[in-house]
Amino acid sequence: MDQNETPVLDALAEHQKLERYGFTPPAHRQGRGVDPRVLKVLGEQSFRSDVVASSGLDDRKSSNGYLSRAESLMAEAVGADQTFFSTCGSSLSIKATILAVTRGEGELLIGRDAHKSVASGLMLSGLQPRWIKPAWDNELKLAHPPAPKTLEEMWQRYPDASAALIVSPTPYGTCADLEAIVEICHKRGKPLIVDEAWGAQLPFHPDTPTWAMSAGADVCVVSVHKMGLGFEQGSVFHLQGGLVDPIRLSQCADILSTTSASVMLYAAIDGWRRQMVQDGRSMIDRALDLARGLRRDIDAIPGLHVLEDELVRAEASHDLDILHILIDVSQLGISGFQATDWLRENCRVDMGTTDHRRTEAVLSVSDDSATADKLLSALRELTAAAPDLPRPPAVVIPDEGDLFLETVMLPRDAFFGAVEVVPAEEAPGRIAAEMATPYPPGVPLLLPGERINKAAVDYLRSGVEAGMVLPDPGDPSLKTIRVVREEPHKSQ
Ligand SMILES: Cc1ncc(COP(=O)(O)O)c(C=O)c1O
Repeated sequence: MDQNETPVLDALAEHQKLERYGFTPPAHRQGRGVDPRVLKVLGEQSFRSDVVASSGLDDRKSSNGYLSRAESLMAEAVGADQTFFSTCGSSLSIKATILAVTRGEGELLIGRDAHKSVASGLMLSGLQPRWIKPAWDNELKLAHPPAPKTLEEMWQRYPDASAALIVSPTPYGTCADLEAIVEICHKRGKPLIVDEAWGAQLPFHPDTPTWAMSAGADVCVVSVHKMGLGFEQGSVFHLQGGLVDPIRLSQCADILSTTSASVMLYAAIDGWRRQMVQDGRSMIDRALDLARGLRRDIDAIPGLHVLEDELVRAEASHDLDILHILIDVSQLGISGFQATDWLRENCRVDMGTTDHRRTEAVLSVSDDSATADKLLSALRELTAAAPDLPRPPAVVIPDEGDLFLETVMLPRDAFFGAVEVVPAEEAPGRIAAEMATPYPPGVPLLLPGERINKAAVDYLRSGVEAGMVLPDPGDPSLKTIRVVREEPHKSQ
């Protein structure tokens, strides 16, 4: 195929050139009816580019096949058999993949550090999760992707599970030993799904961590907006080999998707693929160089430490995407939450994953020395201001034994069944009926179907006091928790 082509992007340019007009949605008619105050902020061009996919960009029968051609070009570019574009983030792509691979029944092996979209897939499907324990670093209080030997043990315990699903890279940039994990799954004829939401750039440079398709994974899901250059919500998922039915996969995405996908998202993904094929290697080279220098410079600032060796030593992660710059601020006597809030408020710099002692900057190919300097000077200002910030309340982090809760009920049954709301102090011993997810990074601490313990409640409550955000519980302050209603025991 000719990788210089961009079928969706070109069709959109043609649509504009021909001044096509549709008596179909979108009703804004390429911006004609839109309030000028809206146009001023969003730009006329964005409305011109917002067209309906069939009977708009393409004809009623989609006879030009712009989208399917763009998907084939992407598959060829990244070495997959087939690629699907999606406009509802990796959150949708992951759910579609889970449903397709498991048919919504039986057991699935899943890394317990999975994102909340994976947990949502469990609630929708009624699957029995068999949790793969991540490698927990008790010193750093941080989970590394599961080790191959842990996966091997899980397959021995649960040989009937339909597939394994793991996250790599994690939101911290740490990566699993994908090749070894693929081998373990394929030895049993089982597919491996990789949540590679943070891995959009990986296929386009040999010095980045292993790309799931090169490692032999069956399906991998990628957020284009995270590390690629697409709009928010743009996602792609790739398929290879014969273990997953492509039609079922595409139909599962169809049943979850919108019928009004944004052509702008598709066009941006299409253009980004061409850019990566043509210039990706040099762009990523520059980003990696920038990251190496910036990591050194930040680490040299008194009071700050950039995590690196401790993330990839034995028993930790297999590899690290160095574009994720995870900065420990604890020597400044402040929390990661305080650092992140202070940088936004005082320097207009926003950071990514944040916890009790760390804040993270994720570089992309769009960064350069000017943006790196902005980050450096903001961090220097932070270190100067830190002595005057209030000391953070302590967050009570559970020990490994208490951290991973026992699943005692199917997540779907716990979520959709009868619930009651209890004060958090009364929740230990009860079964959670809702998720509680520190965000970002988005790994749920409580999942429906898990038996709540005191350590989990203390962690989340003390975390919220210290600035942790929990977007999903009914009561985000977690003073109360939704739990499964238990019928009183009948007396004999
Ligand atoms: C590991 C992981 N998987 C999946 C997702 C969901 O991706 P999206 O925001 O594209 O829906 C995220 C988002 O943060 C993530 O961190």
